[in-house]
Amino acid sequence: MCGIVGYLGNKEAYPILINGLKRLEYRGYDSSGIALFNGDMEIYKCKGKVERLESLKNKDSSSASLGIGHTRWATHGPPNDKNAHPHVSNNGDLVIVHNGIIENVESLRTLLIEKNYSFKSDTDTEVLVNFIEYVQKEEKVSLEEAVRLSLNQVIGAYAISIISKSHPDVMIAARLGSPLVLGLGNKEFFIGSDATPFLDHTKKVIYLEDGELARISKQGISIRTIDSDKPVDAIIHQLQMDLESIEKGGFEHFMLKEIYEQPTSIQNTIRGRLFPEKNEIKMAGLEMISSNLKVANRIIILGCGTSWHAGLVGEYLIEEFSRVPVEVEYASEFRYRNPVINSNDVVIAISQSGETADTLAAIKLAKESGACVFGICNVVGSSIARETDAGAFTHAGPEIGVASTKAFTAQVTVLAMMALYMGKIKNKLTKTKFREIALEINKIPEKIESILKLDSAIKTISKSLKGFNNSLFLGRGFNFPVALEGALKLKEISYIHAEGYPAAEMKHGPIALIDKKMPIIVIAPLGGLYEKLVSNIQEVKARKGKIISITGFGQSEVKSLSDAVIEIPDTLDCLSPMLTTIPLQLLSYHVAVERGCNVDQPRNLAKSVTVE
Ligand code: F6R
Repeated sequence: MCGIVGYLGNKEAYPILINGLKRLEYRGYDSSGIALFNGDMEIYKCKGKVERLESLKNKDSSSASLGIGHTRWATHGPPNDKNAHPHVSNNGDLVIVHNGIIENVESLRTLLIEKNYSFKSDTDTEVLVNFIEYVQKEEKVSLEEAVRLSLNQVIGAYAISIISKSHPDVMIAARLGSPLVLGLGNKEFFIGSDATPFLDHTKKVIYLEDGELARISKQGISIRTIDSDKPVDAIIHQLQMDLESIEKGGFEHFMLKEIYEQPTSIQNTIRGRLFPEKNEIKMAGLEMISSNLKVANRIIILGCGTSWHAGLVGEYLIEEFSRVPVEVEYASEFRYRNPVINSNDVVIAISQSGETADTLAAIKLAKESGACVFGICNVVGSSIARETDAGAFTHAGPEIGVASTKAFTAQVTVLAMMALYMGKIKNKLTKTKFREIALEINKIPEKIESILKLDSAIKTISKSLKGFNNSLFLGRGFNFPVALEGALKLKEISYIHAEGYPAAEMKHGPIALIDKKMPIIVIAPLGGLYEKLVSNIQEVKARKGKIISITGFGQSEVKSLSDAVIEIPDTLDCLSPMLTTIPLQLLSYHVAVERGCNVDQPRNLAKSVTVE
């Protein structure tokens, strides 16, 4: 979703801002722009990719050392040149970039129109920058104070960065509900929606908190609260992330790189946490809430999209190992439906980005009701990581491809360890069972390694799928959520309509869709409900559906029924989602490439959904 970058220092701002915007491309956007200040304001903005923006810059223009940039994901008004950020106030003094949505935009617009303000775009952002200009004139206050007073009258979510012609050595940044990170270099300062735009310049960062406003000048950064104007003691963090981890490393797409990283990312998820021989899971976050987990009568898992699918696998795992009932809910539904939350419920919020607006709001609701909230996040320092009572990082490393891959398997790995931990403290797992499962988790990375060797065979299968417009994914038990996830992967990057179903539900409706034009991807690993799935495959075969199966080695029955088979190593049924997901990720990837789709930045999608 929208991305912000800002620079103030002694270097030329333009290349820093352009590279920063390119690094933010993974978030998803439809237009981009920059403002540079060097005596006068130069603004470049347009619909489309950052490459197009680059072609607009006047090569002879002055080299500014102050500037802000933006990638926009349309909310108010269609993606076009005039709606792209930055936006300028009517007197030409203030320039703003903004992420989020101003909900009371219409009342602010009406007030400004009465005061003879006019607007060039359809955006709430242009209204906001003019409102700040108006407040500054009316109240005769400093820029910083005008921004603060204005934001106190704004309803909605925002991360903003503002520069001003009359304050050429200052950048203002403020946030409420949308992330913003400040980077501290050597006599230079950066602003980013995350740290990726300036990682090659500094790893020293300050995470701006909700309700905080920063004034950044060459003298340093001062932060104050927006509502009460109190000074804030900022904590400087040293990032561990390196540049290599956010680059493609020889792969054609980030998504493929991230699929291939899974043996390593899962190793990183379990490192120092899983001790099969000692019958132990060591996770600081779980220790912190162990008394809550001991008395918990219910677990509620919240998330969106792929994280919600990981939550469904978590439901099966936690119920199986600890016998505690689990409910899994879309964060977006939970936050608006007046849910029953008890103080001895433990809520698990799952989010790769840690910035998903619906998940964040659902967490706040759960906390208000007295529940203990545990976060499973990938991004260190993210809003969700900071908002939860305790948590576990997935340690999957930066996920840049919009379609989530390694984050999913890492989330499931954390949930499997959490389920083991709960099974142990609830006395529902024997030592032998605990050890068996823990040992098998340790083997998952090498088994994924062997599945990745099937890549070229999967690529061949993908060629036979590329011409279809619809598809069904079927799975049962632990692999029902994998069917949902497989369908989501295919639809989001290849634009082929895909539905995930529990295989036995097919008879209750979707079977009507099956004919030779309908490919069916069946997830039928050995164990669990394998025999039942064989019957389901037969039902599809009888109706001439094209069958692609994911199954164990040498399953002649499934093989003889299928048009194509992907054979994967065996594992425990409860851990099979960590393996069965991999061929589905590869299949979607290759189908999308075959169809000429933009794999890493699918249309209309954003990596980090910071608006509801
Ligand atoms: C799908 C995908 C999305 C995200 C969802 C939640 O591939 O990436 O469905 O899973 O937007 O995002 P996070 O996990 O960042 O909260």
